[in-house]
Amino acid sequence: MRGKLITLEGGEGVGKSTNLSYLEQLLRAAGHELVVTREPGGTPLAEQIRALLLQRSEEPLDELAELLLVFAARAQHLQQIIRPALARGCWVLCDRFTDATYAYQAGGRQLDRNHIALLEQLVHGDLQPDLTILLDAPVSVGAARVARRGERDRFEREADAFFERVRATYLQRAAAAPARFRVIDAAQPLDAVQQQLRTAVMAWLEACA
Ligand SMILES: Nc1ncnc2c1ncn2[C@@H]1O[C@H](COP(=O)(O)OP(=O)(O)OP(=O)(O)O)[C@@H](O)[C@H]1O
Ligand SMILES: [Mg+2]
Repeated sequence: MRGKLITLEGGEGVGKSTNLSYLEQLLRAAGHELVVTREPGGTPLAEQIRALLLQRSEEPLDELAELLLVFAARAQHLQQIIRPALARGCWVLCDRFTDATYAYQAGGRQLDRNHIALLEQLVHGDLQPDLTILLDAPVSVGAARVARRGERDRFEREADAFFERVRATYLQRAAAAPARFRVIDAAQPLDAVQQQLRTAVMAWLEACA
């Protein structure tokens, strides 16, 4: 049986990377073989594309070039890692996926969402996440957490309005697909966030068993 694809989404600094290993523990404890990965990236070549996307350079990265690079990395990741894992019955937990492209490139950058839908269809129209966990927090909360991290990447230098659109787009997508999404209040202290994650994931596991 095909494995499940579980994605973790949310704006900057909401705690995706922090909670990835907690989710990994929950899923492994439930007996599932698991590949834990991230986007953009997840293979050596796709990680090189990630570096291109995050680095600041003299030459501005065109918005369409950015979008195509995101999907180029995704195509590589899907072919090399995600599809083979799912085909052998392994579950995949991924830090960001295509919802992030809608949130950042359609929401944040205000590109035409139909263009993203077209690329999504081309790259993985047949394959969608089974569960998407959205860590949601006010933009100021994520920004304060990221600020403690020091040097900001190309995205982290965007204005607050950009991140407000990212957050709003994520919440719209969650509202439009409630069967797939679980929205977690990520502004709470870490133990309260993890309590919510546990409750949501255990209920979902039970429902899909
Ligand atoms: N619930 C929480 N309360 C307080 N601090 C937190 C919480 N969750 C994460 N943090 C801290 O906030 C910072 C950002 O967390 P993390 O790197 O996990 O966010 P992220 O969503 O992966 O960010 P990015 O979008 O940049 O990848 C880290 O220093 C982390 O320790
Ligand atoms: Mg992260």
